[in-house]
Amino acid sequence: MSAVVRGLVARGAGQELTVEDVRLPRPDAGEVRVRIRAAGVCHSDLSMVNGTLAPPFPLVLGHEAAGVVVEVGDGVERVRVEDHVVLNWAPACRQCWFCRHDEPWLCASSGTPAVARGATADGAQLHVTLGLGALAQEVVVPQHAVIAVPPALPWAEAALLGCAVLTGVGAVNNTAAVKAGDSVAVIGLGGVGLAALTAARAAGAGPVIAVDVSPAKRELALAAGATDYLVSDDRLAKTIRELTEGRGVDHAFECVGRSATIRTAWRSARRGGQVIVVGMGAKDDEVGLSALDIFHSARTLRSSVYGSSDPDREVPELARAVLDGSLSLAPLITDRIPLDAAPAAFERMARGEGARSVVLFDE
Ligand code: APR
Ligand code: ZN
Repeated sequence: MSAVVRGLVARGAGQELTVEDVRLPRPDAGEVRVRIRAAGVCHSDLSMVNGTLAPPFPLVLGHEAAGVVVEVGDGVERVRVEDHVVLNWAPACRQCWFCRHDEPWLCASSGTPAVARGATADGAQLHVTLGLGALAQEVVVPQHAVIAVPPALPWAEAALLGCAVLTGVGAVNNTAAVKAGDSVAVIGLGGVGLAALTAARAAGAGPVIAVDVSPAKRELALAAGATDYLVSDDRLAKTIRELTEGRGVDHAFECVGRSATIRTAWRSARRGGQVIVVGMGAKDDEVGLSALDIFHSARTLRSSVYGSSDPDREVPELARAVLDGSLSLAPLITDRIPLDAAPAAFERMARGEGARSVVLFDE
């Protein structure tokens, strides 16, 4: 074991989160050690600890982050010490059936909720979220889980590229292939939904209808590119049809991860339109749809995993878009906090407040 660093640890579902010392292994052959500079608090981390998923504990949270490479194991060629990198929670093996068929986001060897790595201060086996555990001062990860980005990219923005932005932007551009003039609804305006709004507007979609549960998200939604903002109620699907000449939207993005919002998205899409499930829901939360409606509506229901993206190609592209000003992530970041404030950020997220909280680490 080498480094002892501070990390945000979950001890079990529903238990209080604690910042504690964690022991990381030395980078093995093909691995790198990264000093984290910024890490976002994403709803998938919350899903690890609120009972939506059932990962092994103790677990270091965090999977949306950027930092500096500080050590490389034998045979690492992809990056060097001092490179700035974004972490990738679904690194593609490039060999499995999915990778060979151009669907690297479905790579057979990635996306495991928690991987055994390191130890707690008292020597117990530790696990890291999505192979990363990035809400910590450092991570040790396979070299394919890092993507070099230009040093000029600000840390908070760089962190968001690794999950919320790839996911939200990719859902719009890759999974749904939204075109100019298409109508869009985005349900759920956390980091992921706001990123989807930004991409829909940039693609020239209109109307771009943003939906959340409280009026508090209106300003964020409009700043991210929404043309209309609706507070979700029983009439939501009807109101969305009224905004689209009675039809419903071409693309409805569900960015919450619940059966109820998947059904709302379904009813909000036009005949022949598509519903893209971006949120990650619970195993036992079943969606009921009428067999007649499935036939008659001619809608497509599909999911978008990691924005159907190839992060190795798209993270550098998104980094360039941030640097040249064509992609603004400012509306996504509502809180910049130290690691000790991360437990409170999880509570805000559980209440649906704000957008992304980004933990900033000292150099
Ligand atoms: N209708 C509309 N919006 C809702 C509803 C609802 N019934 N319930 C919750 N929301 C809103 C919340 O108010 C919040 O603004 O959904 C938003 C979710 O945002 P975050 O908690 O910040 O989640 P985010 O990190 O954006 O992830 C969204 O995508 O990747 C997945 O696992 C992730 O399922 C999660 C989803
Ligand atoms: Zn995430």
